[in-house]
Amino acid sequence: MNKRTQVGIIGAGPAGLLLALLLAREGIDSIVLEKRSRKDVEATIRAGVLEQGTVDLLIEMGLGERMQREGSVHHGIELRFDGVGHRIPLTELTNGHAITLYPQHEVLKDLVAARLGQGGELLFNVEHAQLFDVNSSQPRIHYTHEHETVELQCDFIAGCDGFHGVSRTALPQSISTIFTRSYPFGWLGILMQAPPSADELIYAYSERGFSLVSTRSPELQRMYIQCDPHDHIARWSDEMILEELQARLTTIDPWQLRIGPIIQKSILAMRSFVIEPMQYGRLFLAGDAAHIVPPTGAKGLNLAVADVRHLAHALTAFYQKQRNDLLEAYSATCLRRVWRAEHFSWWMTSMLHRFPDDDPFQQRMQRAQLDYTVRSRAAAISLAENYIGLPLDW
Ligand code: APR
Ligand code: PHB
Repeated sequence: MNKRTQVGIIGAGPAGLLLALLLAREGIDSIVLEKRSRKDVEATIRAGVLEQGTVDLLIEMGLGERMQREGSVHHGIELRFDGVGHRIPLTELTNGHAITLYPQHEVLKDLVAARLGQGGELLFNVEHAQLFDVNSSQPRIHYTHEHETVELQCDFIAGCDGFHGVSRTALPQSISTIFTRSYPFGWLGILMQAPPSADELIYAYSERGFSLVSTRSPELQRMYIQCDPHDHIARWSDEMILEELQARLTTIDPWQLRIGPIIQKSILAMRSFVIEPMQYGRLFLAGDAAHIVPPTGAKGLNLAVADVRHLAHALTAFYQKQRNDLLEAYSATCLRRVWRAEHFSWWMTSMLHRFPDDDPFQQRMQRAQLDYTVRSRAAAISLAENYIGLPLDW
């Protein structure tokens, strides 16, 4: 079967879904092809920190109702080291900006509902997506859906299929460069049925390694501890995890981690990755398909949002004003913000983790950096402006 659309979108993560909605707003037609089921997409647990710019965009698009009701606005974070917590007052340091904690899979539920509510095409369980002729004016996607093989003719293809997707492979190696770093540690993440232990997120550095206390809801908490990336989750009993969290978060003043049953645990690898350029012919990569950050800076979802905003803007200028310039500038425009976030995430990661080969000098460097960050207003402002997110047109 043959089909046609203006923009063929591969992947129904935050990038692909938001792009489809942004384009629909401008009267641009798209089809979103997703390999997983709706249930899987809506159940995948990821981070949940939304920058102010992401929140503003979702509200402006009429997608913010549940987020504003169920999410929680945070005006600061804590950096904890040497048994003492230091608050970074994000809002005070950034002229009134804040972050919102609202889990990514809840964002996805809202985006899927909005797309389907508009009657827009969004296909789940799509198999064997393959890209053809991306360097021509008639790029195509072949895929199988409900046992039917389809050739989808497009004006443009948006590769929004995440780090393990197929789109990136359509960029010839001869014109692209990959920049990457893998870290010698991972994060063991848990979901715990317990009330929050603190009003704000705690990023803790300790001799035993990094830990993070985050939240999902008044009844459910998300926490992480640095671990060996090759470790097996089965080796970590709930008791071991709790003991490690408590040891790493211990304070001189009384403070208690509130605990409860652990209902989910898994280990994630940590990586930095960028492909340049993010476009080739009529193929445009967005989100994790083009770049990965370690989760320490909480930037992944927000970067994906910034990319598709630029892409939607550029495609709108093409269709409504016959302008090519924004499309041509897409990669360079996105990469400026991507590299800023890459640096910030790498910096936070380097400051807060124990490295297997670090020595006493290296540890003193980390302490000096932490101390400077919490004692100097200039240093704290730098962390805060990056954490709450630079303006979308950065
Ligand atoms: N065909 C169709 N869909 C695919 C294919 C394929 N060959 N390969 C991957 N996908 C789908 C995945 O199943 C996933 O639902 O593409 C989607 C990509 O979504 P994400 O990985 O969430 O990537 P992105 O939308 O760029 O979002 C970036 O969200 O996932 C987090 O850590 C990520 O926070 C970051 C942000
Ligand atoms: C999360 O809530 O999952 C989370 C929060 C902050 C991070 C990373 C993950 O930096």
